[in-house]
Order: sequence, then structure tokens, then C-alpha cells
Amino acid sequence: MTRIYWLLFGLISRLNAAEILAVSPIAAASHWNVMSSVLEALVARGHKITVVSPFPRKTPHENYTHVDISKYVPFAIAQPWDKVIGVFKPPTACLKFLNENQQHTCETTYNLPEFRQVLQSKRFDVVITELLASRCDLYLASHLGIPQVTIMSSQMLTWYQDYFDSPSIPSYLTPLNSPYPKPETFFQRFWSLVDYSSISLYFKHIDSGATQMGRKYFGDDQPDAEALLRNVSIVFMNTHSSFDLHKPMATNFVEVGGIHLKPQKPLPIDIQKVIDNAEHGVIYFNLGSVTRMQDMPIHIQNAIKEGVAELPQTILWKFETDEPMDGQPKNVFTKKWFPQYDVIRHPNVKLFITHGGNSGTIEAISAGVPVLGFPLYFDQPRNLKLFEYWGSGLYVDYSNFTKEDFVHKIKRIISDQKFKENAVQLSRRFHDRPSSPQDLVVYWMEYVLRHGGAHHLKSHAVDTPWMQYFMLDFMGLAAVAILSLSYFFYSVFMFFKKSSFLLKYKNE
Ligand SMILES: *[C@@H]1O[C@H](CO)[C@@H](O)[C@H](O)[C@H]1NC(C)=O
Ligand SMILES: *[C@@H]1O[C@H](CO)[C@@H](O)[C@H](O)[C@H]1NC(C)=O
Ligand SMILES: *[C@@H]1O[C@H](CO)[C@@H](O)[C@H](O)[C@H]1NC(C)=O
Repeated sequence: MTRIYWLLFGLISRLNAAEILAVSPIAAASHWNVMSSVLEALVARGHKITVVSPFPRKTPHENYTHVDISKYVPFAIAQPWDKVIGVFKPPTACLKFLNENQQHTCETTYNLPEFRQVLQSKRFDVVITELLASRCDLYLASHLGIPQVTIMSSQMLTWYQDYFDSPSIPSYLTPLNSPYPKPETFFQRFWSLVDYSSISLYFKHIDSGATQMGRKYFGDDQPDAEALLRNVSIVFMNTHSSFDLHKPMATNFVEVGGIHLKPQKPLPIDIQKVIDNAEHGVIYFNLGSVTRMQDMPIHIQNAIKEGVAELPQTILWKFETDEPMDGQPKNVFTKKWFPQYDVIRHPNVKLFITHGGNSGTIEAISAGVPVLGFPLYFDQPRNLKLFEYWGSGLYVDYSNFTKEDFVHKIKRIISDQKFKENAVQLSRRFHDRPSSPQDLVVYWMEYVLRHGGAHHLKSHAVDTPWMQYFMLDFMGLAAVAILSLSYFFYSVFMFFKKSSFLLKYKNE
């Protein structure tokens, strides 16, 4: 009797507390912030996490095991400007860079003795990885025969859309690397189609190594990477439909936009003082951690310095050093690091100048602060154009950057109350939702475990051949039928025309 009791107890506690295996794809803080927030929500619920990542947890936790790969993967931080603009700007080059990084993480993980040992010593229930730029990490769930849950830390990545039947329909949607949120003209629709198809095809091309890698480490009987991607149970997206324009979304997509946002903490004393004492308010300027500000083209740096020196506001500028920069204007305060989200929530911050990475974009929406966009690459122009679309921001282009344009736009945003009002409206609808992102993560993870992978949620379109999906077979048949009928009627008509003509001729 007690044996049965313990067996039952074991079953129930196993169902309640899941063993979760997670792998982070790239050593970039903005990606890790999203994945770690998902994992923390699950740990807080009592689930057990084993995660392969280059980032340690701040405090140890009995249900959290970290397999450290920080020694083996390159960190995407403080990259030279020329590299950022040269390597990341063309979308295909950016995808290639991410793909190589992610494949490197896969190889590193699969070869790591500590990881192999973890794989043998624990029985996992579900795997969490990030959909970024390779499918090589989907082989863990496949090897273990357990459900695969994924995270997308950005807006919808164009090259994954087809696999989930959430197409980027080019007549009214733009792919992520597009510089506008929706196509308006004939040529924009055309480019929307070209960009969408070319980047999707390019992804298949550069990631063809994923299947080989999976088979190398887990055996020749492993399925094709495409099949594994179609088998993903849930995609947690760091997006929210209060900001991006409507797009078709599969049932197994769950929007957890803002999951990385942390509760407010008091600001460091020096920063607090500067913001409190700024009589005309504060402008917060941060182009992210990936790009090194120091080697931004000198004419742009000078234009920015001269421009902000003309403004009455105080400028908080995230720079690489805590020492003053050359020719630093009196109203500029620099630091290596600012608690960004806490800073932009301070009511005296009037404007956020940002490169438009997804995390910062969501922070700006949530804080209800107007934005001046200064995009550098990939999804950033599109993210920032959305602020322009909703009337809570404007946009500058580094390729034709001028001091006059920069200053004019800052003044316009700060003096015209409409920008602030629209930002507040955006923030209010971003926060208006029935449950927190953390609760959604917990609910859907457990849902997947309760329903054997929840494969009923998936669109069956993903298993439909494209000829059938677009009904090309039917349209082909219809075209043949219409042509044949037209020919038939034409022949009949010609026949009668000829015979009536003959009849007339005979009668005469
Ligand atoms: C660790 O997980 C167990 C269930 O597996 C739970 O009972 C315990 O409270 C968790 N520990 C912490 C510190 O959350
Ligand atoms: C799909 O995932 C389930 C687990 O949820 C697994 O049992 C099944 O083998 C997977 N199918 C393929 C084709 O990988
Ligand atoms: C910079 O170029 C973009 C288009 O490439 C244009 O829309 C914008 O007006 C230009 N800005 C300035 C200041 O000339």
C-alpha cells in the first residue's frame, strides 16, 4: 500500500515540478535577459532548471543548475562601429553572423563533458531554446523524445514564419529587416515580397549544417532540422500587439512582451541627483551595448556634441568610459552603464534616444517615454518607425546625419505635447492585459506538459505541401477548364457564324 502511495506521490510531484533543460544561443545580454526571465518565472513556480549559458545566476538556487560556457563563446559586446555597420547592416550578413555564433554554441555544448554528464544523470521533461538563427539546438528535445518549447526575444523573425504558418503576407506586412512597418506603395509591396522570400531561402541555405550536426552528435536516424522546427510545441514571443501591427499568428504563439521588465529600484544616488536637479528635464542617450560609441564616425560624434550643447536639457549619455569624453559639453553626464529602465521611468526624463533594439523598444513603450530613433542595423529601423507610426517618436538616419536635423527633431519632440501623450497611450494599452507574462509562461509550459507536447495547437498547414497550400493544383485545373470552355464556345460560335454565312450565300 505504501509502495503504491509513494509511486503515486512520485508521479504527482513529477507532474508538478518539471525538470527543464535550457540552452541559450548566443552570448548577448539582450537575448539572455529574455530567456533568463522565462526561466526565473518557472523556478519561482518550483520547477527545476538546468541551463547551458555564458551568464551565471546572481545568487545560487537549489533548483537552478548552471552549465557555464562563458570560456568558449565570444561575447557580442562593444564591437567596433565599422564592424557593426559593415557586418550587421545587410540582413543576410547579420543572419549569417548569428547563425555561425549559434552553431558554435551548439558544438560547444554538445562536446562539453559537463553537459554530457548532465544529459545522462537527469531525466528531463521539456527543452527550452531560443529561435534565433539556427535549428541545431532542436536536436536535444528530439534525442530525448520530449517536447520542445522556444523563445523569440525579438519581434517575429522573418525566416521562421513559414514553419509556423504565420506568413509575412507581403501585400500588407513587412519583414523584420524592412525600414517601414507596412508597405504603402507598389514598390514597397514588391520589396516586401522580395525581402521575405530571399531571407527565408537564405536561412534554409546557411542553416543546412544543422541537420548534419544533429546527426553527428545524436545519430543518423535523427530527423531533418525542418521537421524538428515544425514540431515545436510553443513559441514565447517578446512582443505585444499593442505596438506592432496585426499579423497572422499561429495558435501556439504566446506573446509575453515585456517579460524582461524588472520592478523599479531606487536609482544610484549620483544619477538620481542629476535627474532631479535638471531644471529643463533630461534626455537619455544610449545606443546599446553591442556597438562601441567611441569609434562612431567623428563627424557624427561632433555633430551630436555640438547639437546637445545647444539644448537646455541635461543629457545622460551611455559611453564606454566613466571619464569625460573629449570636448564633453557641460550639460552631458556620461557613464559606462545606466539602469536604463529605471532611468527612463523617472518623470523628469523627457526623451529617450535609442538604437531600437527589441528590449529597449519595449522598455520605452512600457515607460511611456517619447523616442528619437537612431537605428544601426537589422530590426532596429522597423522598430523605430513604429514609434513614428504611433506618433510617439521621430527618426534620424546616421548615413545623412546632420546637427541641424538632430537638434530640430529633439526640440520638436520635447516641445510638442502630442509625442508624450501618444507615448502614454501606448504604455497604457501595453500594460492593459488579463495576466502577466510570467503567469502566461507558467501556464503554457504546464499546458504543454499536461497535454503531451500540445501538438493539437499547431497549424496543420505546416505539413501541407506548398502546391496545395496555395491551391495551385486547383487553380491549374480551373485555368485549364476555363481555357477549354472558352475554346469550345469560340468554336461553336465560329461554326454557327460560318454556317449562317453559307446559308445566306446559298439563299442568294
Ligand atoms: C525546489 O523545487 C521543489 C519542488 O521540486 C520545491 O518544493 C522547492 O520549494 C523548490 N525550492 C525553492 C527554493 O524554490
Ligand atoms: C515531436 O515531439 C514529440 C514530443 O512532444 C516527440 O515525441 C516526437 O517524436 C516529435 N516528432 C518529431 C518528428 O520529431
Ligand atoms: C536622410 O535620408 C532619408 C532617406 O534615405 C530621408 O528620408 C531623410 O529626410 C534624410 N534626412 C536628411 C536630414 O536629409
